[in-house]
Amino acid sequence: MKIYEKLLLENKAWAKEQLQDDPEFFSRLAHIQTPEFLWIGCSDSRVPADKITGTQPGEIFVHRNIANMVVHTDLNLLSVLQYSVEVLKVKHIIVCGHYGCGGVKAAMTQQSFGIINKWLRNIKDVYRIHKEEVDSAPNETAKVNKLIELNVIEQVNNLAKTSIVQSAWKHHQRPHLHGWVYGLENGIINPIYELPAGSPIDPFYQYDNL
Ligand code: CO
Repeated sequence: MKIYEKLLLENKAWAKEQLQDDPEFFSRLAHIQTPEFLWIGCSDSRVPADKITGTQPGEIFVHRNIANMVVHTDLNLLSVLQYSVEVLKVKHIIVCGHYGCGGVKAAMTQQSFGIINKWLRNIKDVYRIHKEEVDSAPNETAKVNKLIELNVIEQVNNLAKTSIVQSAWKHHQRPHLHGWVYGLENGIINPIYELPAGSPIDPFYQYDNL
């Protein structure tokens, strides 16, 4: 058996199991999705949003990229954000990083990685802004993990800088924004930051005419 064929076999078994538990499972989901959460996570294969939160299909809208970034020129992220906030009307947006993130580690080196330099550049900017705090950590691992936490906070703040989130806060008092960091070594999510809807916005980034 080819290695990818195992995936298709597992899929058949999974679909059968779902139907045994709940005969309406697929027909119900095929017609409507009403997730309350948007998850912005790292592409890392060890951080599957639904597995680690025990959520089912239909419960979380997911966007993943290297190092869970919210880049204000990223059409992919912005499309997911607008659709989930304005159409799906999610109540919570979770930016979930993870300790030991390879993207953050790479951004802390002076090595060139090709195209991905452009992406990592956004993390280098976070490092530059918080250099003193990151460099005061006691060892290399602690430095990386400190930047991982600060990067998650920065990305949550980036969400609040968008007109999409500011408009929803003003007119609908949602979504609430959360910054979490997942531990690869223990499977536990560490909630480190929260911006409830209506939190003060840095005047540099505040839009008054939404
Ligand atoms: Co990562």
